[in-house]
Amino acid sequence: MTTELAIVIMAAGKGTRLKSRRPKVLHEIGGKSLLAHVIRAASQIVPAAQIYVVIGHQAEQVRASLAHTGVQFVLQDQQLGTGHAIQCAREAIAGYKQTLVLSGDVPLIRPETIRMLLEAHQLGSAMTILTAQPENPFGYGRILRRKGENSRQVEAIIEQKSLTQEQLSLREVNTGIYAFQTAPLLDGLNEITPNEGNGEYYLTDLARIFVQAGKLVAAVEAPDANEVLGANTIPELVALDATMRAATANRLMLEGVTIYRPETCVIDADVQVGSDTVIEPYVQILGKTVIGSDCLVRSSTVIENSTLGNGVLVRQSCVIAESTIGNGAKLGPFAHLRPGSDIGEEAHIGNFVETKKAKLGKGAKANHLSYLGDADIGAGCNIGAGVITCNYDGVNKHGTFIGQNAFIGSDSTLVAPIRIGDGAYVGAGSCITREVPAGALAVGRSRQVTKEGWASARRTARSLES
Ligand code: UD1
Ligand code: MG
Repeated sequence: MTTELAIVIMAAGKGTRLKSRRPKVLHEIGGKSLLAHVIRAASQIVPAAQIYVVIGHQAEQVRASLAHTGVQFVLQDQQLGTGHAIQCAREAIAGYKQTLVLSGDVPLIRPETIRMLLEAHQLGSAMTILTAQPENPFGYGRILRRKGENSRQVEAIIEQKSLTQEQLSLREVNTGIYAFQTAPLLDGLNEITPNEGNGEYYLTDLARIFVQAGKLVAAVEAPDANEVLGANTIPELVALDATMRAATANRLMLEGVTIYRPETCVIDADVQVGSDTVIEPYVQILGKTVIGSDCLVRSSTVIENSTLGNGVLVRQSCVIAESTIGNGAKLGPFAHLRPGSDIGEEAHIGNFVETKKAKLGKGAKANHLSYLGDADIGAGCNIGAGVITCNYDGVNKHGTFIGQNAFIGSDSTLVAPIRIGDGAYVGAGSCITREVPAGALAVGRSRQVTKEGWASARRTARSLES
């Protein structure tokens, strides 16, 4: 059976130039690995079952991090070059008419550009190369076009190290993205010989091999060179990260989000924000965060993998992770919402309040200086300044349950496990260790003793002594 198109993503290389212990393709831009970006683009062209990722260096780590995408993996035990990577995928691609090759370290590629390449390839070449003219072509393989003929046709790809003095001026580069007809590709792979310099098998040698065999090799230029830059070093990676984040901010702004000084914000690629939300400078919005409409996120806040409803106010310098915030809630400044916080509609979490696995009902308020952990706090409760849930006994964590409309006086400690009923009052400064029934008042502090005249008498006694 011949199926139309296979996509092979080369992702086995070590990434020596990154000088990192992490495999190159797992380095991230816009909060996602390079390879995840490439797989996402590829998945818009063919089903995941037709995508073959060549892995080798730290293969198991790479496989584990991308297995959920449903792509196929092909092992390249030893990394002997890009030509060898595709040789390892021979069996995988043999049943397909066409093979598209993507590089795992060229992450900004858009499906539209891949489609443009595939369309150009339909004109009958054995190999069609996606090319670009970046500002700085250093480090890339260069495209040598055939002289005096149809300028779409290519003579060879020449790697940076092999450029002659006069070829140094060639500005058109190989992006590492190609479309092939599979039959000549399989033949051509047999012809690649190790490079004299480093012994690697270069996929790029195929251009010359095809031309020498009288086959056509075409080139088509990407509309925007920034989309096809590779990430071989940390500065290149950081530059791509900036490009991706700028594109994300731009996408959100075009969807009606106001981002002041977007260049200071760090917004991951998958983040969603509703219209009329305003984001102030120096905000980070990370992971799979979803923010509703009409919110205001003030400066220096960091939000990660969280969901915010509509009309939420996040004042300055809040840290919010893996939490859910209801419509109209007000947070901060300086609030710390740790994983599992579930803040109800119109609830308030004020300055220096830390929550963890804490659910606050609608309109509940904890405005100052509290720790609320493993707590379920009913709607309309007022948690006074300095209230602490003592959720940990040194061995286990315990829950605190507070009914609706309860009032917990300032500086109280609630020793869990503990229950406080609906509408109950806890006097300020209490240490509560036993259940407080609904509607009750509990005061758990020593009685005040007042000694009239004691202080003035002491002062008089002291002055007589000296
Ligand atoms: C390659 C091209 C170069 C092009 C550039 C575009 C070759 C010989 N050169 O150079 O013409 O301008 O990409 O970005 O192809 N890989 C494997 N197995 C290996 C070696 C590499 O899977 O044995 C993978 C890498 O993980 C990477 C991709 O192939 O994702 C490209 O390899 P890399 O070493 O980055 O090639 P470049 O030097 O960038
Ligand atoms: Mg590269």
